[in-house]
Amino acid sequence: MMERRTRILHLVPVVTAVFLALLAFQFAAPTHAADEPAEAGFYLVSIGVGDVDLITLRAIDTIGKSQVVVCRQRTADQFAKYLEGKEILDDSLSGWRTYGKRCSDIEDPQARAACLKGRERRATLINRIRRAVNDGKSVAILAGGDPLIYGGPYRWYLEEFKDLHPRVVPGVSCFNAANAALGRDIMLGKGSHSAVLTTARDIDKFAQHHPTMVIFTMHTKFEDLVEKLKIHYPPDTPIAIVFYAGYKDKERITRGRLDTILEKTRGKDFPFEHLVYVGNFMN
Ligand SMILES: C[S@@+](CC[C@H](N)C(=O)[O-])C[C@H]1O[C@@H](n2cnc3c(N)ncnc32)[C@H](O)[C@@H]1O
Repeated sequence: MMERRTRILHLVPVVTAVFLALLAFQFAAPTHAADEPAEAGFYLVSIGVGDVDLITLRAIDTIGKSQVVVCRQRTADQFAKYLEGKEILDDSLSGWRTYGKRCSDIEDPQARAACLKGRERRATLINRIRRAVNDGKSVAILAGGDPLIYGGPYRWYLEEFKDLHPRVVPGVSCFNAANAALGRDIMLGKGSHSAVLTTARDIDKFAQHHPTMVIFTMHTKFEDLVEKLKIHYPPDTPIAIVFYAGYKDKERITRGRLDTILEKTRGKDFPFEHLVYVGNFMN
């Protein structure tokens, strides 16, 4: 009798350990298979800027949980290893430039025709996304950079599908990558500890207190930009142009001062991918 009780007592720690292990497993193990979504969702997912290694783990995880991915062919090729078995919808159907516009109000016949065509293509894309969501699938829209910084090509998705409560997965903007390329705290200006993210159009409104300015150029002629800046900033203010931020092999910086930079850039063609920084944080 005594022996039996001792044996049972020996078993207590073993049983307790098994119980605790099962309990831990219950909480640690996902409640869904790895390739199934926890719940169908509609996601706007940043894939970062530049090279593919600037995507985040969270973005990869969200893509993994989505059965339908909306992106350009180029993006699909770059991120092919995360997209195997997914249904890909072509983002170039979005015609985002004319979203919310009344095509009939456009006078130029060519522009009106383009608007109508864009609307038709967009309707196809919208229908496909709606069908996928109705089938209980998760949809991920892939976006370059931070889609909430001058995110023209993406903001229409948030509007059109607001009933689906879109969730945005954050990511690396060209702004973050360019800051890293410059390697200095952009808030450490002498007169102000602030930075303004802007476009050429708004320079005059904010330049008065000489903040650091980060200018998203969007095809602005560089000469025009510099002339505008010279009106407000002292001529010896540092200026830097960061080209291809986030691309290890292509990224480069041209530095100068407002009164010298045009000599350095004369005759050079600028790619779309360049950001301009102005401010004495670079002194
Ligand atoms: C419409 S904005 C989009 C910015 C994007 N949402 C982001 O967060 O990276 C486009 C502008 O961003 C800048 N840009 C985009 N990619 C860039 C890159 N790789 N390097 C430098 N500037 C870039 C250029 O000034 C371009 O005109």
